Amino acid sequence: MKAGARKSRASRPSRTARDSRDSRSSSAEWWSSYFTDDYLLEFEPIFDATEDRRQVSRLIELLGLPSGARILDVPCGQGRHAHLLAEAGFSVNGLDYSPALLARAKARGTDPDRLRYTRGDMRSLPAKWTGRFDAVVNLFTSFGFFMEPADDARVIAEFARALKPGGMLVWHGGSRDGVMARFLAKDWWTTSDGTLVGQERSFDPLSGILTIHSTFSGGPREMPAREHRIRLYTATRLSELMRDSGLVVEGAYDAWEDRALRRTSSEMLLVARKA
Ligand SMILES: C[S@@+](CC[C@H](N)C(=O)[O-])C[C@H]1O[C@@H](n2cnc3c(N)ncnc32)[C@H](O)[C@@H]1O
Repeated sequence: MKAGARKSRASRPSRTARDSRDSRSSSAEWWSSYFTDDYLLEFEPIFDATEDRRQVSRLIELLGLPSGARILDVPCGQGRHAHLLAEAGFSVNGLDYSPALLARAKARGTDPDRLRYTRGDMRSLPAKWTGRFDAVVNLFTSFGFFMEPADDARVIAEFARALKPGGMLVWHGGSRDGVMARFLAKDWWTTSDGTLVGQERSFDPLSGILTIHSTFSGGPREMPAREHRIRLYTATRLSELMRDSGLVVEGAYDAWEDRALRRTSSEMLLVARKA
């Protein structure tokens, strides 16, 4: 998910009392109901097939794995990376909690030998996956969703458990340092059906939680406002969490680019290896 999205602009929406009342996803478990077709519409400008291919090429370059190697994409969402990794010749498992997004992923194709999807919670991966994968990928700020920071640590521990010794974790998402350096408190863009998406963002430095309130107007149907929360991590803290689970960070990059992570990089990509 984009912690600091900026796409095409239109007139700016403003937050109203009615929007606040309409916020459906304000429970602690916001993530359990947020990832529906409305999520796909909200972030539509970011989902670009050419960009997906570019990201998967970079993953393949970073991982340097032979054809047939086992890769776990968790959470895989609508399968945009899992599908392309399978197409490139890897044996891919995708796990996600959202039935709606898994249905989208499966609609692009599955194959018992190459591409399998499972519904599950990333805090508790299937027991039979212990030591199974050459690589685990966690992409597009799919981390920091839980109320308790210990659950984030548990997710990293699960990734480590699923890896073979010497296996690699690729983590991509928002970098707290960079998001703070160029904080975008408001942003808005228009989707292909004419919906004006407005986001208002606030950050709590004590918990490290970024709250994003989204409103929708001008589209073909009425959509209630939504809210989601992400605990942002610095590369420092995330690499400590990884180390605690036996994963050693070997590379830290500026998003998907082949250049070192900077203080102002709003996205980071960390490559860690299981000792
Ligand atoms: C921002 S999306 C990214 C998905 C995918 N990695 C991508 O790049 O498109 C985050 C995903 O996390 C999934 N998710 C949220 N909470 C989860 C949980 N507890 N266990 C597994 N998946 C979860 C959502 O359903 C959603 O597909």
